Amino acid sequence: ASASRGAFSGRTAFIMAAIGSAVGLGNIWRFPYVAYSNGGGAFILPYVIALVCAGIPLLLLDYAVGHRWRGSAPLSFRRLHRLTEPIGWWQVLICVVIGVYYALILAWALRYFLFSFTKAWGDDPGTFFMESFTRAVPADQASIGFDFVPGIAIPLLLVWLAVIGCLALGVQKGIAGSSLLFIPLLVVMFVVLVVVALTLPGATKGLDALFTPDWSALTNSSVWVAAFGQIFFSLSVGFGIMVTYASYVKKNADLTGSGLVVGFANSSFELLCGIGVFAALGFMAQAADKPVSEVASSGIGLAFIAFPTIINQAPMGTLIGVLFFGSLVFAGFTSMISIVEVIIAAVEDKFGTGRVASTLLVGIPMALVSALLFPTTTGLNLLDVTDAFVNNFGIVGAALVSALTLTAGFTALPTLRRHLNKAGSFKLGRGWQLLVGAVAPVVLGYTLIGEIQTRLEKGYGGMPSSFVGVWGWGMTVGLVLLAVVFSLAPWSEKSNLHTLDSD
Ligand code: PHE
Ligand code: NA
Repeated sequence: ASASRGAFSGRTAFIMAAIGSAVGLGNIWRFPYVAYSNGGGAFILPYVIALVCAGIPLLLLDYAVGHRWRGSAPLSFRRLHRLTEPIGWWQVLICVVIGVYYALILAWALRYFLFSFTKAWGDDPGTFFMESFTRAVPADQASIGFDFVPGIAIPLLLVWLAVIGCLALGVQKGIAGSSLLFIPLLVVMFVVLVVVALTLPGATKGLDALFTPDWSALTNSSVWVAAFGQIFFSLSVGFGIMVTYASYVKKNADLTGSGLVVGFANSSFELLCGIGVFAALGFMAQAADKPVSEVASSGIGLAFIAFPTIINQAPMGTLIGVLFFGSLVFAGFTSMISIVEVIIAAVEDKFGTGRVASTLLVGIPMALVSALLFPTTTGLNLLDVTDAFVNNFGIVGAALVSALTLTAGFTALPTLRRHLNKAGSFKLGRGWQLLVGAVAPVVLGYTLIGEIQTRLEKGYGGMPSSFVGVWGWGMTVGLVLLAVVFSLAPWSEKSNLHTLDSD
């Protein structure tokens, strides 16, 4: 491979960057409510099975692809076969979509971090979030509008500036550097947050709600789908991130050992998040004299509505706010970096542009699109629909297609297994091929079909069908078509397409 590609300085740098990508909003706000609404304590069983049987095996598959073929997603899949390059571009385009809206959540978190000091959200954080902060139009009136909300536009631009600046510094200084700084800080902040939350009156009520098992959930297939979905999202597998990062790892590295560390670190942090978030919700339920189920609202509301309510009422509220929103910012930033890096690496590889040029070539247009569409009164709806479609169809579909492609022909998987085992401290048996080639595709395929049926029947979130048609279905199909177009573009003379040294 050419010397101009970036590289991680060593094992710690890679592991921290990979944990930085994995630990994100999915751990902090997604996991707690997914676990709670899917059997509580009983969710742990399907969750661990999903982690061991599909999450970690697919994580190792991504590592193997990027490390064996030493490239961004398009370059690695191009080296697999001339005809599989579009899979790589599909993954890159998914990252484009996620990147433009992920920045919005980061911008909200940044603003709420500052709001924590003054409790700017007042006595009614729900109304504040919807009417004063996002000024969101009701879902049934969702459309594209350019009615800007300056209070969000400014932090959004700051987020993009930070992301572009960090990525321009390169793989070691920018990517590994930011994770080496932010991840330890995040862990310390979150541990303090959990300790504070556990001292709140009512905390145990929240923990009871989260951990009291509903064993009947285990016979419900949607609980299993939710467990696999959470694991895929949480580990960021199947859409190019880990392929890209692994391509920066030196040869003869212990990838299987690193994969186990990353997988278990991410899940441990997730469990910690569940404890912290539910301890706080228990306090809120007790204060409002309501059952926990009533205050445990899902998704975005949990972070930006329930938490401000808790901060208003709790002793040490400001501290809780600063720690919680600070954690969201740090966790989100290192994930955001990893999403945008997938695109930068692809541009660098295909067009032969240098680090800084590629960063600007990717970062500036993305920042513009993001700033044009999202800090608006329709930004919340747009975020909602693009997030649902790109996660449930894009990521799941891309993971399915890449796992099946690598299995087809029965040559790639054994090659990759040998590659991983060569320097890996944890040796993979044939069972790994079975998990990646059969178990994971069956689960992914089942999830995908179920989701398509639901969406066709029910539409999405009560939004107008034209809006869902364009930004949901249209975007989903458009990405696949665009991926083919990109793969048809010629590789630059300077690209290192044909210079992979064989091993
Ligand atoms: N894995 C991250 C999380 O748990 C989410 C993520 C999604 C990261 C997409 C990068 C890209 O929050
Ligand atoms: Na995660």
